[in-house]
Amino acid sequence: MKDTILSLLPPDYPWADRIVYCPTVGSTNDLAKQLARSGAPQGTAVIAGQQTGGRGRIGRSFHSPSGKGLYASLILRPQCAPGELLHLTCCAGLAAREAVHSLCPVVPDLKWTNDLVLGTKKLGGILTELGLRSDGTVDFAILGVGVNCLHGREDFPPGLEDTAVSLAMVTEAPPSVPQLAAALLTQLSQLSTCLLTQKEALLNRYRAACCTLGREVALVGSDGHVRHAAALDIDGNGALLVRFPDGSEQVVSSGEVSVRGLFGYV
Ligand code: BTN
Repeated sequence: MKDTILSLLPPDYPWADRIVYCPTVGSTNDLAKQLARSGAPQGTAVIAGQQTGGRGRIGRSFHSPSGKGLYASLILRPQCAPGELLHLTCCAGLAAREAVHSLCPVVPDLKWTNDLVLGTKKLGGILTELGLRSDGTVDFAILGVGVNCLHGREDFPPGLEDTAVSLAMVTEAPPSVPQLAAALLTQLSQLSTCLLTQKEALLNRYRAACCTLGREVALVGSDGHVRHAAALDIDGNGALLVRFPDGSEQVVSSGEVSVRGLFGYV
């Protein structure tokens, strides 16, 4: 698997000597975090054949059956304060979207903040996590990406089969997992060069890709409280600007709320 990924990377890919492949892992994010804490350099990538404890945002799990999906986490070491990385999840979503589009005739939308969707179903997701130094600056960032690639409907557990989709379910010639891994790593390495310098341009690309904008959504707070609002815009940090029925507007961050469509998942 690792040799196949290496053979598919472009010759100028900068981190070919930093790929860690595990047939089975709890969570690639957890292993990447462990490696980062032990000093693994920028560009170290963990890719797994399957995850037994794949994680999503706000304590959700990410179903990660063997050989069916891309499960990857990349370590970056941007030298900045954590507040300068609030757009990181949006940008990792863009990279995953471009990776898919570079290999198949589909372009996933991005559901704010961290889901890749096709039509009304979830194709994958992003889980970014930061490690901080004692002075509060960023030690490392983990960009975790999961994409459903070769799943048939029967590969999703009950409950997910109506809301999840894979590339094999929508295209006759889906990419292989190594192809998707190489395309993703290529996109993420390019992103790493402009993450801090081209924030507004990246967020403009995110706005164009974000299917949440212009919709009526349900904002679900961490306490389960639900408020309906119109999704208006993405601000300069990747947060969502919404308008409530009383006309008041608020910027909500992904740490505060998750978004649901009023008539389904998107
Ligand atoms: C979500 O659905 O909220 C995000 C899902 C992110 C899944 C990926 S798979 C690779 C990496 N390792 C994890 O445990 N999670 C991310």
